[in-house]
Amino acid sequence: MREVFEVRDYDAAGRRGELTVPRAGVTVETPALLPVVNPHVQTVPPAQLEDEFGAEILITNSYVLHNSDELREPALEQGLHDLLDFSGAIMTDSGSFQLAEYGEITVTTEEILQFQHDIGSDIGTPVDIPTPPDVPREQAAEELATTQERLEVAETVDTGDMLVTAPVQGSTYPDLRERAAREAYGTDLDVFPIGAVVPLMNDYRFGDLVDVVAPAKRGLGENAPVHLFGAGHPMMFALAVALGCDLFDSAAYALYARDGRYLTVSGTEHLEDLDYFPCSCPICSEHTPEEVRDVDDDRERYRLLAEHNLHVSVEEMRRIRQALRRGNLLELVEQRARGHPAMLDGYRTLLEHSAQLETTDRVAKEAFFYLSSESARRPEVLRHHQRLERLECEGAVLLTEGSNSDDFDECWNLVPPFGPVPRELAESYPLGAELPERRDRAAYEAAVEGIRRLVAANPDTEFTVFHTGWPDDVLGGIPEGVRVEVLGKRRE
Ligand code: GUN
Ligand code: ZN
Repeated sequence: MREVFEVRDYDAAGRRGELTVPRAGVTVETPALLPVVNPHVQTVPPAQLEDEFGAEILITNSYVLHNSDELREPALEQGLHDLLDFSGAIMTDSGSFQLAEYGEITVTTEEILQFQHDIGSDIGTPVDIPTPPDVPREQAAEELATTQERLEVAETVDTGDMLVTAPVQGSTYPDLRERAAREAYGTDLDVFPIGAVVPLMNDYRFGDLVDVVAPAKRGLGENAPVHLFGAGHPMMFALAVALGCDLFDSAAYALYARDGRYLTVSGTEHLEDLDYFPCSCPICSEHTPEEVRDVDDDRERYRLLAEHNLHVSVEEMRRIRQALRRGNLLELVEQRARGHPAMLDGYRTLLEHSAQLETTDRVAKEAFFYLSSESARRPEVLRHHQRLERLECEGAVLLTEGSNSDDFDECWNLVPPFGPVPRELAESYPLGAELPERRDRAAYEAAVEGIRRLVAANPDTEFTVFHTGWPDDVLGGIPEGVRVEVLGKRRE
């Protein structure tokens, strides 16, 4: 593996980074969206993708070119950059998608990689087998073995300075995904797409998607650039970035446009159903939904919708980069989780992997916003609880939501959802969190978990808890031997 990826800053497992693409002579800022360009039907021309939408990289299908009587020779003679009129980096897919759709293709990994090299691709792809979700384990394991063999073949093809991807398969089996990722990372290939997730995304199975991506990430090193194959809906970009995906390819902008579907960051609308556009991109500013519906020329109508779809996708990617910079990506994921129950499943599943996210999450961010009961399970809370297991205190110790008391040897703050907080840490991230006045049960439960960890780590200390009226059954989780008193009136 060449060292082509540099991470700048982390937020959870999400990162801002830079991918160097030597053959194109460019670096690409990540997370990045790669618009899919169909060489035959360019709904939005590549030059416009570059100039108007700021695309630094795009993806096209080399198998389509390879099998085209019209385009094969021009691609070989002119090269892809001239043919498509795009000066950034060009990634090519291999025909694996056609393999999944039609069961058979007519090229080998060697042939298609050579072809990709010969047409001037900057990032090539071997012929992996996209095993769909939920197949029998035996099939997933067998097809994975074939994919792995092809990665080993790909290592032997002389592709010069073209980067080569090592797709990670394994269907919906987390252990296979993790193994696939470890083996892919063990090759000398360069970019790591997580494959065959399109059926999960099409069915809105975002929880299952998280459970596929998380084990794949565990098998890859932190310097591995990770692509999520076929992920083009802006509503799930933030979730996937928080898991550590760096590259996304969107055909959705164009495919959805053909069905009259209008993308938003919280789901998909149908042009038919819209009276107003909830967007101020150039297309939506200059047209009403009725005007777009009335465009007779199909291609022109597709173009208008596709351009809007691209604008929202590009805008969401910029918003994500800003969130990564500032350290509030999880707040953005949380907002997106409110757009659709299936996205909430994705976020809840993400939080089941908080320990994994915690390992890269950065220490200091601007502010922790507690936005819902899910916030109580964020990696920052987990990290504080782990820290409590290492903190020492002696004598008679007060943990209080109120003020100090001279009756104790030490006084600590008591802050839901974190639990006990030594006063010298009170202002540091995330302990100076912004919380709603009306706390929820999850915040109290997490605070009690924090108390349990501190008490277990200091068995000889005499603890007293002063709280502001936490629910009795939640207080029942405080270990025996801890004195518990209510400070003020109960807040319901
Ligand atoms: N496009 C969408 N999914 C896949 C995949 O699993 N493999 C390849 N090569 N391309 C894809
Ligand atoms: Zn718009």
